[in-house]
Amino acid sequence: MLNTNHEVCDVKTVHLYNESYSQSYRDYDNEFVNTPYYTTFVPLLKELTLSFNRPIKVLDLGCGTGRYFHALQNTVELTGIDIAAPMLNLAVHPLKEEEVNIPVINLIEGSAFEHDFAGEQFDFIYSIGVLGEHAPFTADMCDKLYTLLTDEGMLMFTVVDIDERKNLKRRLAETAYPLLPEKIKHILDKRWETNYMTYKQLDNMMRGSRFDNYNIERISLTSRVWTGAHLRCIANKYDTISRPFFE
Ligand SMILES: C[S@@+](CC[C@H](N)C(=O)[O-])C[C@H]1O[C@@H](n2cnc3c(N)ncnc32)[C@H](O)[C@@H]1O
Repeated sequence: MLNTNHEVCDVKTVHLYNESYSQSYRDYDNEFVNTPYYTTFVPLLKELTLSFNRPIKVLDLGCGTGRYFHALQNTVELTGIDIAAPMLNLAVHPLKEEEVNIPVINLIEGSAFEHDFAGEQFDFIYSIGVLGEHAPFTADMCDKLYTLLTDEGMLMFTVVDIDERKNLKRRLAETAYPLLPEKIKHILDKRWETNYMTYKQLDNMMRGSRFDNYNIERISLTSRVWTGAHLRCIANKYDTISRPFFE
């Protein structure tokens, strides 16, 4: 039931994030700074980027309007990629622009799935509200993120926890599922195809990946525009010398 077709999602995303929707996303910023989303991820991004204790190159995958740029520390070069041009146009002047302390910012319009980074690597990659949400978190994407990281690199991303989004009707249908005829099962499988993930699905994906370690935490981030929970994953790639000690 996990969707793996990013192309369909990419088309939908471009359609959704048009100029007016992107502008309302930006207009929500004043309210957004008081939401659990902001108060969770700004300190976390500060802490993770400070933990490097050296200048770093950062990739924001699905950067949108650049809401989190001001949280990044130690960052000498930031690349923000987003498939929606209207969102990216707003990222030129991101939230709390006066606090953004990054000498070089590159904004790339394109799909994170399709874009060829031509061997470029980043010390820290983060992606909030994109994978396992608007786009699928596929094994190929997981592998791409690993390759995009330098040795000793770190990844932080969120996916939507599907278990928190199921209503009673859906839960009942899932209980009855094993007893249903194959034809009905097939219809439900199609209807239930989603980018959202269970903890177990994300855990399995990360366990099967090349990442040397990872940690998944379920966080509840209910606000006026969102009810539910996200799974927040932090994963590390160790350098080729220290890796054997972790195997
Ligand atoms: C909910 S917004 C999150 C934006 C930003 N990360 C934030 O937290 O404010 C989702 C963003 O992901 C972008 N996006 C979705 N699929 C993408 C893809 N395949 N490649 C690049 N960006 C994508 C959308 O255009 C949109 O700007």
